[in-house]
Amino acid sequence: MIELSRKQDGSNDTETFARDVAEGLSQYPKTLPSRYFYDAAGSRLFQDIMALPEYYLTRCEFKVLTENRQEIVRHFANDSFFHLIDLGAGDALKTKILLRELDRQQSAFDYVPVDISGDAMRQLSGSLQQEMPAVSVQAVVGEYFPALEWMHENKPERKVVLFLGSNIGNFKQAESIEFLKTVCSYLNSGDKLLMGLDLRKEPGTILSAYNDAAGVTAAFNLNLLRRINSELGGEFDIAQFQHYPIYNPQEGVMRSFLVSKKEQEVYIRDTGRTFHFDAWESIHTENSHKYSMQQVEELSSACGFRIETVFQDEACRFADVLFTVT
Ligand code: TRP
Repeated sequence: MIELSRKQDGSNDTETFARDVAEGLSQYPKTLPSRYFYDAAGSRLFQDIMALPEYYLTRCEFKVLTENRQEIVRHFANDSFFHLIDLGAGDALKTKILLRELDRQQSAFDYVPVDISGDAMRQLSGSLQQEMPAVSVQAVVGEYFPALEWMHENKPERKVVLFLGSNIGNFKQAESIEFLKTVCSYLNSGDKLLMGLDLRKEPGTILSAYNDAAGVTAAFNLNLLRRINSELGGEFDIAQFQHYPIYNPQEGVMRSFLVSKKEQEVYIRDTGRTFHFDAWESIHTENSHKYSMQQVEELSSACGFRIETVFQDEACRFADVLFTVT
């Protein structure tokens, strides 16, 4: 396992968290960065979200990968060895669909899962050793770009990058272009990227996926405040905030907010500050972009890729798009 160091400026995680929270809550309108959703409790809640009847995304992608696994793998493998680099691999439940197929076909590749969680990468390496002992695994613990840079500098062989789960949708438009351009800069002509994208569809279907009847998504969103309370000495009264999601069908953007139910002051110890909320003032916590095929094409040509194949479910809810570096 390769561990790439994360910080250059010497600050620790709690200090960075406090700084980001103070910055987001002093803006107008207020925001909080979505990367802080995933502490232990948040990750458990997200597992629950993925099992919800309303949250079609994960099930759809699972189906797309399962039904197309042979063809997808055929596009990856040619005569030369390749590195399969999995950005944000986690437990790799979806990637394993492809790994089993590559293993079955005895393809010449190694698997390079990348994740900031060292625990997740140790567990994944162990479970793959058990399940698919013939697959060689080289886990990288670190952020995406340092990992890609490390691969670029140390491994000259062909590369196939996976960016599954519609994670690209959580970037702003300009950020997603920057992100893909940077990914592209660490690859060579002919290398590939398989990326999950949630597609535009009936607006009510999208909204329900972020506003489930059981209230799991609400708990997930509110967990951000709970985390500020426990890690930064915040004094949020969670009951005085509500989860509010809204989908804009023109922009294709699903947005989630936390709304203050009354005028209130909230002290957060580690920021040394008190933040004022007007009644019904909101904190923006997440964007989730839903794509049209035209947007996917624009995105790919703006970033140095060309679309090789689009894999999608029969209802066209979710796509895994295979891009080639031009
Ligand atoms: N970012 C993921 C998504 O867009 C996870 C997510 C699901 C999420 N429901 C959410 C993030 C609600 C914030 C709020 O699907």
